[in-house]
Amino acid sequence: MVQFTQTLAAVLLATGVVAHPGGNTNREILRRQAHLDHPNRRSVQECKRDLVESGWVREQHLRREARLHELRVAAGFAKEHEIVRRDPAEVEENYGAEAACTLDPEATEGPYWVTGELIRQDLLTGEKGAITHLDINVIDTSGCKPVTDAYVELWGCNSTGVYTGVQAKGNGDGSATAIKTNALRGLQATGSNGTAAFITVIPGHYVGRANHLHTIIHHGAKLLPNNTIQGGTISHVGQFYIEQKFLGEVEKTPPYSTNTQKQTLNAQDALFNMGKQGGDDPVMKISLIGKTIADGLYATIDIGVNPRAKQNPQPVNMWTAEGGKPVPNSPWTGYPDTCKYCGFRPPKEKKGVDVEGETEVLG
Ligand SMILES: *[C@@H]1O[C@H](CO)[C@@H](O)[C@H](O)[C@H]1NC(C)=O
Ligand SMILES: *[C@@H]1O[C@H](CO)[C@@H](O)[C@H](O)[C@H]1NC(C)=O
Ligand SMILES: *[C@@H]1O[C@H](CO)[C@@H](O)[C@H](O)[C@H]1NC(C)=O
Repeated sequence: MVQFTQTLAAVLLATGVVAHPGGNTNREILRRQAHLDHPNRRSVQECKRDLVESGWVREQHLRREARLHELRVAAGFAKEHEIVRRDPAEVEENYGAEAACTLDPEATEGPYWVTGELIRQDLLTGEKGAITHLDINVIDTSGCKPVTDAYVELWGCNSTGVYTGVQAKGNGDGSATAIKTNALRGLQATGSNGTAAFITVIPGHYVGRANHLHTIIHHGAKLLPNNTIQGGTISHVGQFYIEQKFLGEVEKTPPYSTNTQKQTLNAQDALFNMGKQGGDDPVMKISLIGKTIADGLYATIDIGVNPRAKQNPQPVNMWTAEGGKPVPNSPWTGYPDTCKYCGFRPPKEKKGVDVEGETEVLG
């Protein structure tokens, strides 16, 4: 497996893949590879037996089924007593073998992480698109238990492929419009069932990347009076994707259909392909709440983390009451042209590349 991933990474790096508008993914590919090759890596699949035996898989399945039913009843698509249940034994058997029980693999933050976002469930702030109720489960893969005391951070671009809280060339029209809003960004505590629940939209697309959402898992952070968090550690930085056929249907609906940027399919996205390796599956499981996409969606995904792991993602901006403000000395400042991480090329022919050490050179 190590051999295989290194070969794939080498091929991907040689092509100098375009990433976020104007940039490339070389740095992100190396990060992902280092994670796949890490000796302590453990996937949700390896936790399967423990999670099934403890009853967690069954309980989780019943809870998600009930949650989807609740959303259907609330939207007028089902009657209270009409819940359709799937055999939990079948769910247990398939756990880890189907998209319903995905693990989100380690990836990187990309150039548009804005720190200091608010703790809130509803991230819409006026944005339009395929409204998605997303339940994210955090599982401790070292102890095979739900993580009940973490904060899950979530962000994605809007339905026409623009990130809020930042201003950068190639992010929409590059104007300062998006920097003034915190739409589609926020955090939620995992709580007693290990689930962080959000309301957001299916992200649109922009040049060079398949549609994706970003996540970061925080541990031991302090809750501030203004509903933000401070400090703590970050165990996981990841990205979620949408199954291609379903995504095609979403992209046909407005406002997605008004997006004039070139689209990248999952299969053409180097980070998506690396994300699928090593038994990981970063694709969300999505159900229609009603009859059409416009009636809303219920999505779920499991994230396997080692809560003691320490990742060091770098925010480009910080959210303040006045909008996004640059973080001093961020290696992403100036993206995509002049930042420290811009145009990153891996060091040549060096054994055991240490991608965590921030010694990259500009290409
Ligand atoms: C998880 O628990 C919270 C309360 O702590 C609840 O609001 C939420 O609906 C639960 N999620 C699921 C999927 O059952
Ligand atoms: C996405 O964000 C940009 C920048 O804020 C905005 O101009 C555009 O209208 C948004 N897309 C939609 C569909 O609202
Ligand atoms: C929340 O409070 C912290 C600490 O005082 C401050 O740095 C931050 O800007 C505040 N965030 C917002 C959105 O008001």
